[in-house]
Amino acid sequence: NSDGANKLSKEDQELVLSLPRVKGWDFSFLYQYQGFWCPSRYLHGILSFQRHFQAKDTDIVLVTFPKSGTTWLKALTYTIANRSRYTLENTPLLTTPSHDLVPFTDLEIYSKNQSSILEDLPTPRILATHLPYASLPQSIINSNCRIVYLCRNPLDQFTSYWHFVLQPADPVSIDEAFEKFCQGVTMFGPVWDHELGYWKASLEKSNNVLFLKYEDLKEDIIYSTKKLADFIGCPFTNEEEAQGVIEEISKFCSFDNMKNLQVNQTGKVAYFGMETKAFFRKGKVGDWTNHLTPSMSKRLHNLMEEKFGESGLMT
Ligand code: A3P
Repeated sequence: NSDGANKLSKEDQELVLSLPRVKGWDFSFLYQYQGFWCPSRYLHGILSFQRHFQAKDTDIVLVTFPKSGTTWLKALTYTIANRSRYTLENTPLLTTPSHDLVPFTDLEIYSKNQSSILEDLPTPRILATHLPYASLPQSIINSNCRIVYLCRNPLDQFTSYWHFVLQPADPVSIDEAFEKFCQGVTMFGPVWDHELGYWKASLEKSNNVLFLKYEDLKEDIIYSTKKLADFIGCPFTNEEEAQGVIEEISKFCSFDNMKNLQVNQTGKVAYFGMETKAFFRKGKVGDWTNHLTPSMSKRLHNLMEEKFGESGLMT
């Protein structure tokens, strides 16, 4: 339980009180901090991460908007980066959720005042956050570390998140959730600002920021796994390619394989105290068609066109 560690200093409490606050659909209240919406319980970890984190040039920072495939990206990156240490027969992923092997640096490590563990992580350190690009610690921006951003079509991301948040005892209607989502009021939202921030950074600093799409990973995971490995500085050798290592890793990290591991059927993520199975629902592209009405999808589509504009993100 991180409640104790989450206690904000008097100064930060005043900061929180000065922030715009709205009723959320995913959390009782969301606070607008640096342009994104955030529950107050996360602010301690975020502020601490922003103020104190020291990046190393060898760091790999995984970033996602929630429900865009974080669990998958963590598993893939962990497996690629640690393949000389572990085989697929003895990888810790068989017994430990990817969220515990690559915990969120701000929401978990700094939130629990455990930043000292960062010093002991093997190189390259694999870190994770949901923060928008503009809110990353300055040390990350100034360093030469590599940032991998995984985005997902907001229609599917919203559908996934709505299912994730849904509590049978306290259901939120999809209409209410959707309305707020379209207004940008959702944890770390608005989603378009989040995606655009990393998209622009990936164009400006292509050596440091890799922009991936969930849909592209689903379409051609071999290509994406190779691209990811190259980008994080752990490229596959010709020999590995010939031996089918890329296929094996891709298959190991696939939805069907991961979902069926005992640890992801009955385990818990130690850090969040949440059941691992909540992170594996359908793992498909286009499930929004089963949950959003035509008018909802049209509205969101129009909003995406308006927000993404000429950026190139709609293509
Ligand atoms: P769905 O709810 O659409 O099924 P996150 O990891 O960011 O919380 O995102 C969770 C979403 O990613 C869920 O989407 C989940 O099923 C999907 N997912 C989890 N592991 C996956 C994997 N190995 N391959 C593809 N999708 C995966």
